[in-house]
Amino acid sequence: MEKEKIPIHIMWHIDALMHLYPVTIVTTVNKDGIVNAAPYSLVLPFCSSPKNPQIMLNVNNAWNTAKNILETKEFVLNYPKADQLKDIVETSRFFDEGENELLHTKYTTSPASHVKPPIINECYQHIECRLNRVIKPSGLQTNFIGDILELSMDKGVYDMPRLERAKHVNPPAYLGVDEEMRHVFGKIVDITPVPVDLKVD
Ligand SMILES: Cc1cc2nc3c(=O)[nH]c(=O)nc-3n(C[C@H](O)[C@H](O)[C@H](O)COP(=O)(O)O)c2cc1C
Repeated sequence: MEKEKIPIHIMWHIDALMHLYPVTIVTTVNKDGIVNAAPYSLVLPFCSSPKNPQIMLNVNNAWNTAKNILETKEFVLNYPKADQLKDIVETSRFFDEGENELLHTKYTTSPASHVKPPIINECYQHIECRLNRVIKPSGLQTNFIGDILELSMDKGVYDMPRLERAKHVNPPAYLGVDEEMRHVFGKIVDITPVPVDLKVD
């Protein structure tokens, strides 16, 4: 196959690059305790050691999520299902600072165990985080490294066989923004287990 070089413009990571991203809804609170929620896909386990589990969340400095995490040092990653796209996108709209986006959706919340931002009940998995440090790769972006205080999910899901678990949680994939400025999502329609055979004949 012949290859071509692709120019790297602003937002190259969701414009030029075809890269499959997870979808989370991040809840935070401001210093007055007002809840903020918005979808975030630039999320990656940062330290996989069970002694020091950490996750990284990359946020544009302009967003309220960034301001709240710097102010209150806590955030929760909530993992929505693929049948919640309308509400996921609703939380991405530019509401005024101090307005709880979740009140414009069908989502409901419960208190988290260790931090002030709530968990979203209808999401299947939650990661409660306390800010450990920040990395600033550019003047526009702050990457938050969070210590994982608790990982929780819907009761019974962790005990399911992995294949059944993957189908049950039905995670959406985020594929960036199209030419008409629409968010593009996909969902997993086929899940194939491939045996791991590490021995070479
Ligand atoms: C599926 C999806 C994923 C997104 N991922 C990110 C992300 O990883 N980082 C980011 O800065 N903005 C991301 N955005 C944009 C923010 O969600 C959006 O700008 C939102 O209004 C920010 O809200 P806030 O000011 O309440 O934090 C994403 C949007 C969508 C729809």
